[in-house]
Amino acid sequence: MSKRVLLIIGGGIAAYKSLELIRRLKDAGVSVRVVMTDAAQRFVTPLAAGALVGERVFTDLFDQTQEFDVGHIRLARECDLIVVAPATADLMAKAAHGLANDLASAVLLATDKPVLMAPVMNPHMWANAATQRNFATLQAQGLRFIGPNEGEMAERGERGVGRMAEPEEIRDAALAALSDGPLKGKRALVTAGPTIEAIDPVRFISNRSSGKQGYAIAAALAELGAEVTLVSGPTNLPVPFGVKRIAIESAREMLEASEAALPLDVAVMVAAVADWRPTKEAPTKIKKGAAGVPAIALQENPDILATLSKLGKKRPKLVVGFAAETNDVEDNARAKIAKKGCDWIVANDVSGDVMGGAENQVLLITKDKTEAWPRMAKEAVARKLAAEIAKSLTAKARRK
Ligand SMILES: Cc1cc2nc3c(=O)[nH]c(=O)nc-3n(C[C@H](O)[C@H](O)[C@H](O)COP(=O)(O)O)c2cc1C
Repeated sequence: MSKRVLLIIGGGIAAYKSLELIRRLKDAGVSVRVVMTDAAQRFVTPLAAGALVGERVFTDLFDQTQEFDVGHIRLARECDLIVVAPATADLMAKAAHGLANDLASAVLLATDKPVLMAPVMNPHMWANAATQRNFATLQAQGLRFIGPNEGEMAERGERGVGRMAEPEEIRDAALAALSDGPLKGKRALVTAGPTIEAIDPVRFISNRSSGKQGYAIAAALAELGAEVTLVSGPTNLPVPFGVKRIAIESAREMLEASEAALPLDVAVMVAAVADWRPTKEAPTKIKKGAAGVPAIALQENPDILATLSKLGKKRPKLVVGFAAETNDVEDNARAKIAKKGCDWIVANDVSGDVMGGAENQVLLITKDKTEAWPRMAKEAVARKLAAEIAKSLTAKARRK
């Protein structure tokens, strides 16, 4: 059966390009159904879009014929991908806040399918803090974005970021989102970044992890089709394409968010979780003064890797830990597999510039082999590891 896209056309001048997009998708063998907002119909007619798709176009949440004919819930579910093009500032805001007062927004709220948005708007609208907040919210929910691109705007003389991606680019992103990677249907968890452990409301204990390696792994698993939850400590990194990010601060929050992501096929624990936290978090800022230098007593944090590795029936099929070592890397990593009960350890020597750097050099250690990988970009390490994970999970599935 051919793949099915539900195309939601929002109200921007670029709506005319969506007619071209319909043609491009159909040429690629994709079947297309169209929803248009009221505003979209000011720019292109349902008749034109309908002629291109060869069926009626859906426009009205409250139209009895349309609702009984297909209905907004079926529209939301009877597709493999929803593409929103043009994604107006208004549609992004509605989706980010869960509004559902017209057909397009109700479909976006009701769907359980992946969503790809192609925003277009005036550069000031795009740069506006409200739009940027909505963009970040939607990315964190796992929606995918293509564009907006930089260039000449429809308004005379305006240039900047806000142009809709070209129909071919949107088609390619849609085809990529529709493709069946080897991890299609598999659920993955990646933890990344540091944790921070509060001393008082303004001070904390943390570490130098940048989150780069974990984010790259989340991206690589998503590229292979996995449904990825990224539980991340504070970082400055953008959410990778198609990944759902849960932002946390402490080790205890990371454990809770990781358990909430179960059931899982694979868990890749890359985060640099603080081993210890202050025994007490002072409710108010500790004052400098008469009491002298405060002593900070520490207690052990929960061990997230060991907890997930020893879950019994609910254990992810494959649990991969990262080990940051500064000496005796392989011996320490083997000891860690035994102690934590995980399947693989990716061990890196962090005595150099690895933490925060762009490259990594790792050993992949499983129960029966050790592979030394050459030094390479963290993205390349991520792709190689994602490929190994795909190999292992598909072999496990065959053995069943
Ligand atoms: C000529 C014209 C062009 C517009 N272009 C855009 C646009 O590119 N992006 C956008 O977000 N809004 C644009 N708008 C504003 C939207 O049409 C308006 O916010 C509308 O309520 C969006 O409705 P919808 O999100 O339901 O489609 C434009 C309005 C006009 C009159």
